[in-house]
Amino acid sequence: MSTQPPLIEAENLSVKYSNGDLALEDVTFTIDSSTFLAVIGPNGSGKSTLLKTMLGLLKPNEGSIKVLGYDAKRAYKTIRHLVRYVPQRDQIEHTVPMKVKDIVLMGRLLKKPPPRFSTTKDSECAKAALHRVGLDELWNQPFPELSGGQRQRVLVARALAGEGPVMMLDEPMSGADHDSQVRIVEALQEYYNENQVNIIMVTHDLNPIHMVVKDVLMLNRTVMGVGHPCAIMDLDLVKQVYGPTAKIVELDGHKYCITHDSGIDRHDH
Ligand SMILES: Nc1ncnc2c1ncn2[C@@H]1O[C@H](COP(=O)(O)OP(=O)(O)OP(=O)(O)O)[C@@H](O)[C@H]1O
Ligand SMILES: [Mg+2]
Repeated sequence: MSTQPPLIEAENLSVKYSNGDLALEDVTFTIDSSTFLAVIGPNGSGKSTLLKTMLGLLKPNEGSIKVLGYDAKRAYKTIRHLVRYVPQRDQIEHTVPMKVKDIVLMGRLLKKPPPRFSTTKDSECAKAALHRVGLDELWNQPFPELSGGQRQRVLVARALAGEGPVMMLDEPMSGADHDSQVRIVEALQEYYNENQVNIIMVTHDLNPIHMVVKDVLMLNRTVMGVGHPCAIMDLDLVKQVYGPTAKIVELDGHKYCITHDSGIDRHDH
């Protein structure tokens, strides 16, 4: 029997914004540790809210959520130490002439106590992380001069360069072209296979990572489905969440979800 606490344990979790919007309602689920989890659901379904609540950036109205056994309401400082977070919209001030290397190194330096000097090991880890996303040659480039997709890859590299048993990435592929998306997925998959790490990734389109993830959590303000990617690919369920045009297709024994979000259902009539 495993003595390790679950990666995430949510019990009757509800989260309300100050304007009264109930973004999450009665959310209960458990995800065991050592996983690559995709969090999916339509716009406004509460995916980002869930990640922010795990990090203690938002407080539950009701219920609780724990990360590796730590309650997000009380132990958020411990959780932030354990988690490497890539937010949906980066907060980097683009008028500050930071170089790519400064951004990637931030993944290691921000969790150190001041004074935050980078060591040779920090540089090596940062370079290796940039290599994983295929952007070695941009080490000395000013970050604001990068394309949207390159910036996303650098932010993923920042998380890869860091330490801590949990990575949380909120739509890391948004705004990235197909090549950049593939690089991000491959980098995460490779890193996951080589390291003892949990990855939680919010995504609009499950299809590119369908074969990579171990678990899927499908949200629509509350939990609509949780389990193995193929196990939650139920036609009634995806129609309920994504609307009547959603489809399930089967390819080589795997089920894929075709939704308006994945951009495919608009072209196949
Ligand atoms: N700061 C805020 N103040 C008030 N309401 C908010 C705030 N942030 C989000 N919401 C609301 O909470 C709900 C869930 O939002 P959330 O950002 O978690 O959804 P999401 O699933 O991440 O959506 P997307 O796919 O667009 O990123 C939405 O109805 C949204 O309008
Ligand atoms: Mg979001």
